[in-house]
Amino acid sequence: MSSPRGQFSSKTGFILAASGSAVGLGNIWGFPTNAAENGGGAFVLIYFVMAFCLAYPALMAELIIGRHTKSNMVSALQKISTGDIAKNVGKLTGFYGVIIATLILSFYSIVAGWMLAFFLEPLSTVTGLAEISIWLTEFSGTRNIIFSAVFMVLTTAVISAGVEQGIEKWSCRLMPSMLLLMACLIVYVMFQDGAIEGLKVYLLPDFRQIGDPQLIASAMGQAFFSLSLGVGTMLIYGSYLSPDENLPAMGAIVTIVDSSIAFLAGLLVLPALFVAQQQGVTIYNEAGNLIAGPDLIFQTLPTLFHSMGAIGIPIALVFFCLMTIAALTSSISMLEVPVSYTIENHGASRHTAAWLIGIVVFVLSGLIALNFDRLFNFVVTLTTEYSQPLLGLMLCIFTTWVWHRDKMLTEIRSGYPQVEQSLFWKIWPGYVRFCCPALILIMFIQGVLN
Ligand code: PHE
Repeated sequence: MSSPRGQFSSKTGFILAASGSAVGLGNIWGFPTNAAENGGGAFVLIYFVMAFCLAYPALMAELIIGRHTKSNMVSALQKISTGDIAKNVGKLTGFYGVIIATLILSFYSIVAGWMLAFFLEPLSTVTGLAEISIWLTEFSGTRNIIFSAVFMVLTTAVISAGVEQGIEKWSCRLMPSMLLLMACLIVYVMFQDGAIEGLKVYLLPDFRQIGDPQLIASAMGQAFFSLSLGVGTMLIYGSYLSPDENLPAMGAIVTIVDSSIAFLAGLLVLPALFVAQQQGVTIYNEAGNLIAGPDLIFQTLPTLFHSMGAIGIPIALVFFCLMTIAALTSSISMLEVPVSYTIENHGASRHTAAWLIGIVVFVLSGLIALNFDRLFNFVVTLTTEYSQPLLGLMLCIFTTWVWHRDKMLTEIRSGYPQVEQSLFWKIWPGYVRFCCPALILIMFIQGVLN
């Protein structure tokens, strides 16, 4: 039996849940790593431009469609379409979104599993279980599979509890704890030798790099991934939002929270890298670039924590706890995409749908973990670099070319009666109709050619 649709009980509940979806490994790992790889401050600057000029308008498209249709992406795009062709394209786009969300979760749960393993490592070190510590931190198929399974159980348990009792309740608990942990770590790192040098690399833009197509493409990909766009996550969260809420304001708050936390994560990770250098850790690779990617999180920072002596143990624990929490509030939003589709379009109960899809995702993660070298990067590139921007483009097209402008206006007006006099209404529809698709397409093609 399909259960009645859930709804966020409050504005704060929605903001924390949607920000929880947005703030994840993409912010705390992806953003600082990308900044380290792409000229520090130059990347930060372009990222902010992308987040507010491209990702925010696309986020608004998802929230508005979601709240209007009160359904998952597959049905939503059909509902706003008139004519068979548009309906069929809508259905296919929706399916594509559901599949991509599922695939993102399959690789995301492996990485989140690493965070869980590294979170447990300081505990096993303290209790003298040296062999377990080594197993937890060494790359192996078994470890990857076991921890992605544990992570998927946590994710599925939250989703199976429903919108208010699962997503909202846990986002409201986890998001503030995450912020607190992050603030404590930033304060600690800032007082260490070397931190200021890291700050300079992070904040001073190298203007020569600003026009680099690679940097621009990375910043766009990062902004889309970070705001959880294209795959119907924000659409489904929007569908659980009350009609009284002001959508442009909600979207703006989520974008601001997401970008601010990415920015804060940079204040933590890049200075920490230079603190590590002071402790004798190598932070530049052979090519003379700052170490980024997995090595930064799983080698450079752990080496720093070890070199700190006793204080390094709680610091490592807090850092990886922060990572695990951030990953969990995002993974629940990914799982909600296929689960809401299965509940609404196939009449399954939430409990059955959640556990069934949880198992499917786990099997996919297992396949990726067992063929890591062949599949991992392939799935990441396919989903985040190619599919997310293209799906974002489709959503912009559906909102402004396929959907009726008056219906869209009526939807925004509910919760924001003066919208027609606002700057938002003067700019946004035309912008999403012409500029966003063109910009996404140009940058997408440039990224592919590079
Ligand atoms: N925004 C999340 C992050 O930054 C990732 C995500 C992508 C979540 C797509 C949901 C959908 O980590």
